[in-house]
Amino acid sequence: MPDAVHVGSGKVRELYALDAERLLLVASDRISTFDVVLPTAIPDKGRVLTGLAAFWFARTRALCPNHLLAVRPDGRSTECRRLAMLPIECVVRGYLAGTGWKDYRAHGEVCGHRLPAGLRESDRLPEPIFTPATKAPSGHDENITRAQAAALVGAERFGAVERLSFTLYRFAADYARERGIIIADTKFEFGLDGDGRLVLGDEALTPDSSRFWPADQYAPGGPQPSFDKQFVRDFCELTGWDKTAPGPELPSTVVAGTRARYVEAFERLTGIPFATYLADPNVVLS
Ligand SMILES: Nc1ncnc2c1ncn2[C@@H]1O[C@H](COP(=O)(O)OP(=O)(O)OP(=O)(O)O)[C@@H](O)[C@H]1O
Ligand SMILES: [Mg+2]
Repeated sequence: MPDAVHVGSGKVRELYALDAERLLLVASDRISTFDVVLPTAIPDKGRVLTGLAAFWFARTRALCPNHLLAVRPDGRSTECRRLAMLPIECVVRGYLAGTGWKDYRAHGEVCGHRLPAGLRESDRLPEPIFTPATKAPSGHDENITRAQAAALVGAERFGAVERLSFTLYRFAADYARERGIIIADTKFEFGLDGDGRLVLGDEALTPDSSRFWPADQYAPGGPQPSFDKQFVRDFCELTGWDKTAPGPELPSTVVAGTRARYVEAFERLTGIPFATYLADPNVVLS
């Protein structure tokens, strides 16, 4: 890529600088489970993530400014505004799952939010809660209290990202619910542009940054089948893998099943056939 300088790699994305103001985020087909990137890729997963995030960016622009400038014809590369990312992950939870459930079971609260007694795993919360986390370089993010998060980014800015996160979550959760998908929780990352304005960055409202549950199978009182990675997790459990790197190779049935679920999430949420997106990624922007 002659017009770009590689500036970083995450578990899923490669980052390139296009110039001082713009980055190219390229979403690979890598899949991680239990925080380990597996040796087998899921074809088109990066395109699904890129297309879905762009779809939401286009639809939430009036609620919150975001970094998206353009999606490239490959369907997996996003040109975006380069931001100074805030050092917190902005998590909104509408349901009790993952570390939220763990913390609740241990202490009756999540990130300083006292919750009613007697909630079950995967129960819907009376109101969504904001549960910030640190952006740990190791990949294992840690929940922190609202006060700790406010100390990291400043009280005023904290208030602003909390409000924006709730607004985005409520909009997307309502939208998805009508299409048969529960967004149990989701993570946003915000940054500051050159003028110090808050801008939504990274990916947003994708199966990698959220828990998507099929609404017709929702049954609180235990873990829910996740929309995307369930095949992979189930397979990994079966192999007896100890969840440290390297992870197991995935058989072709698991790869195909997982790809189908990612594509299904894309099609259900956007209402656009995935083949149409592949032919012209700009369809998600209008
Ligand atoms: N507009 C932006 N400007 C600057 N950095 C950004 C922007 N949008 C996203 N980023 C950063 O780019 C990276 C995206 O890469 P990726 O999602 O693969 O990694 P990650 O989520 O940090 O780490 P991992 O997924 O490995 O835990 C993140 O560090 C994110 O904070
Ligand atoms: Mg990421």
